[in-house]
Formats: sequence, C-alpha cells, structure tokens
Amino acid sequence: MKQHRPTVLVVGATGRVAGLVVPALAARGATVRALVRTAQDTRKAIDNGATEAVVADLRDAASLLRAADGADGVFHIGPAFQPDEARMGCNLVAAAQQAGVRKFAFSSVIQPTHATLANHASKVPVETALFESDLEYTVLHPANFFQNLKGAWPAIASGGVFAEPWPVFTRIARVDYRDVAEVAAIALTTDRLAHGSFELCAPGRFNRTEIAAMASEALGRPVVAKELDFDDWAALTKPPYNARQLHLLSKVHAHYAAHGLGGNALTLEAILGRAPRTLNNYIQELARS
Ligand SMILES: NC(=O)c1ccc[n+]([C@@H]2O[C@H](COP(=O)([O-])OP(=O)(O)OC[C@H]3O[C@@H](n4cnc5c(N)ncnc54)[C@H](OP(=O)(O)O)[C@@H]3O)[C@@H](O)[C@H]2O)c1
Repeated sequence: MKQHRPTVLVVGATGRVAGLVVPALAARGATVRALVRTAQDTRKAIDNGATEAVVADLRDAASLLRAADGADGVFHIGPAFQPDEARMGCNLVAAAQQAGVRKFAFSSVIQPTHATLANHASKVPVETALFESDLEYTVLHPANFFQNLKGAWPAIASGGVFAEPWPVFTRIARVDYRDVAEVAAIALTTDRLAHGSFELCAPGRFNRTEIAAMASEALGRPVVAKELDFDDWAALTKPPYNARQLHLLSKVHAHYAAHGLGGNALTLEAILGRAPRTLNNYIQELARS
C-alpha cells in the first residue's frame, strides 16, 4: 500500500450504515472510491465525502474488476437478506485479488457461525474466501447496530412506546456503526488489524425496559417498553424489505426471543484506544435530532 492517501473502494458508500465508513476513511487520509450502482448516485457519494465514484454491481464480476483496478483497499458489506449475498461477497474478494488489491475489510456479523440464521450463514463463504486469499483481510463481527433504533424512534418520541417483537427483558448486544466504521478505516489505512477477526460490541447489553428508561430520561417524559407481534412491528417500523426478507428477519427476532444476543466490548475498546460510543449517548443524540 502507498504510504499516503491509499485509495479504498467502498461498497454501500451511500447506504445507511456503510455510508458512515466514507467519512471515517476520509478523516484518516484515504482517497475514497465509492462503488455506486447507478451514475445518479455519484453526487450523493461525493457529498458524503467520497473523492470519486465508480458504477458497478456485486453481481457483475467484470464491473467489480474495473472498480477495484488501482485500489489499495476494499471495504465490503453484504446487502441484507439477499439470496445470493455470499456469491456477491465472493465475487468482490475474487475481483480484489485479481486487481492486486492489498487490503480487504469485510463487515460481517457477530457470531457468523450461528448458521441456522440465513444472514449469518451467508457471511461464512465470504470469510472463507478471504482466509484462503492472499489479501490482508480484516473481518469485523459487529453486534446489532444502534442505528436500527432510528426506525423505532418516531413511535418512541411521539407515542411514548418502545416496542420490539421479543420480550422486554431480553438482553441484546449492540454497537454504534460509527465505531465499526472507525475500525474499518483503521484496518484499511494501517497494518494494525491485518489478518484479524474482531467481535465489535458497545459496553452493556441492555434490555428494552432499560432502553425505554434511557429514552424517557432523554425526552423528559415517560416511555414504556412493550412487546409487539412481528407483523405489527413491521407495519409500524416499515423496514425496506420484501416478504422473503421480512421472513428471514422474523427468524432473527425469534432467535433473540429465545436466546438474546451475547457480545463482549473488550476488543472494540482495545482497537479504538478509547471507550466505545454508548447506547445512552446515542439515544440522547436521537432525542436532540
Ligand atoms: N442491522 C444490524 O443490526 C446488523 C448487525 C450486524 C450485521 N449486519 C449485516 O450488515 C449488512 C448490511 O446491512 P444493511 O441493512 O446496511 O444492508 P443494505 O442496506 O441492504 O445493503 C448495504 C449496501 O449494499 C449495497 N448493495 C445492495 N445490492 C448491491 C449490488 N447488487 N451491488 C452493489 N451494491 C449493492 C446497497 O447500495 P445501494 O445504496 O445502491 O442500494 C447498500 O448501501 C447485512 O449483511 C447484515 O447481515 C446487520
């Protein structure tokens, strides 16, 4: 990799979470090349901090080879609940290798070996392809994103109800994707995280009753925690998914209901060299926004 201003190709550069990787890389002096699916998204990517954009598709191997040409690093995140998510990731790993890219950061999922969930199983072939490649890979295993709470926030702020389709006392490991983005940027601009796989969680594994109390304090009025059935929750929060994707998401929620979600904050704090962002602060930000 060049000593200064490595060029990094970023998948999802205009997306709700991967879009946070673009400013994190720019802040560390990288030249960001956004992978966009249509030329119309170029402006959005540049406005988000990318230096350049290239039109490509994870299902089109030739376009990926062109996109990766001359790049020093690649950031990849798989589109959620797509039947060919693994193939898309493997296509990008192959293109990066062929193009002579040095570093590859893959935003996978916490506990990817929990393969009864489709969105976890789909990460395993991509990780395997990286482990079998010559790339200097860094694999990130983030917990549930704080940013998912944005969809629930209008009902919390205006209705005073925080509802999810699993029990109110279930504990879920979560993380602020801005911290995940910072770890990705460290991986792609330094050698500290080469050939590592890292679980990324914020401290605390709060249940909904505790999160409702944080929201109540931030808003200065009561917020109650409730449990909704999955269909009612989907009608309320409107995730951008088709019926098949919603079915797969409902399996994740059923898993949370049965087992919660474990996770440990030690690795994230060690990598960042500071305390990770907290859920309480994120909720205060939502309340101010
Ligand atoms: N939500 C969580 O709490 C959580 C926790 C841990 C891990 N994860 C994992 O994080 C990943 C991302 O979740 P997400 O909700 O952010 O996903 P997403 O929005 O569905 O997809 C991420 C990006 O992929 C791009 N994309 C989709 N299809 C593409 C294609 N054919 N070619 C090129 N780019 C394409 C999209 O770009 P466009 O902007 O062009 O549509 C989008 O910005 C999933 O794999 C999920 O399993 C999620």
